[in-house]
Amino acid sequence: SANDLKLILDFTVNLARKAGQLILEGSEAIQLAGSNVDEKKNSVDLVTEYDVRVEELVKKEITATYPDFKFIGEESYAAGSRSPLTDDPTYCVDPIDGTTNFVHGFPWVCISLGLIYKKVPVLGVIYNPFLDLLYTGIKGEGSYLSKHGGSPMRLPLAKSLKPLATLNHALIAVEWGNDRTIDPLTKRSESFHKLAGDPDKGVEGGRMAHSLRSLGSSAMNFATVAQGGLDIYWEIGCWPWDVCAGMVIAQEAGGVVTGSHAYYEATKDSPSFGVLNEEILTGRKYLVIRAVGDSETEN
Ligand code: IPD
Repeated sequence: SANDLKLILDFTVNLARKAGQLILEGSEAIQLAGSNVDEKKNSVDLVTEYDVRVEELVKKEITATYPDFKFIGEESYAAGSRSPLTDDPTYCVDPIDGTTNFVHGFPWVCISLGLIYKKVPVLGVIYNPFLDLLYTGIKGEGSYLSKHGGSPMRLPLAKSLKPLATLNHALIAVEWGNDRTIDPLTKRSESFHKLAGDPDKGVEGGRMAHSLRSLGSSAMNFATVAQGGLDIYWEIGCWPWDVCAGMVIAQEAGGVVTGSHAYYEATKDSPSFGVLNEEILTGRKYLVIRAVGDSETEN
């Protein structure tokens, strides 16, 4: 019920702040002394000891408080724990979203804690401890931003965000991702060209958006769209923990989240997540728009 979710939200926010402390400590340790950075699939797919430590902390606290809840986490998944999605309440967690930023000391990093119930994301908490930005959302109850510990402000911050009439005026987040093989890289770059390019100066299909941003955290992209600072976030290749919390927060702020199938083939190693998987996760193409009403963004 909504009441249960509010209690769970309080717990999740406290947990995010606690995890945020560890992320800050980790960042300091890495900047001062260097740290072991492992390369998962290739030299740009990074994981640090802190990704693992933060996920362990979060998992431990969740299990202690909600022993019946299931858990899906980026690092648990990497370590081979891949239980299928059920109807049970399930936390879906990215302990450090923006690991590359974290390693470089670029402060666009967050923890992303989503809760799925009956295969639908129903609660999201995204916390950036470097900038002390806390985004929360409960399905049906709105989403909020609290800056520097201040009181929560309803999202989007601007009261009258209008649907985009055209891509021309949009500020769009795109990401490079960490699969740099030719096929996905080409597809991404072609989309970047189209979104940014001037059709009158030879870029076929160019939409000449105001600009593109590539800030390195999927969850923060969702949150920033919800806030109204970005109009669109487009990406191929996300994982469930990258999008789960952000979906709730963006949707509750009036955004639209879509995913489509068969765009990008690397789904064979993606986890099996039932409805969520079919409708959103196997698509591996995410589009979150600030408001409904722009059929142009379908491409
Ligand atoms: C990644 C970041 C990145 C996005 C990737 C994600 P990670 O998450 O969100 O911006 O392009 O798709 O996997 O590896 O930093 O947790």
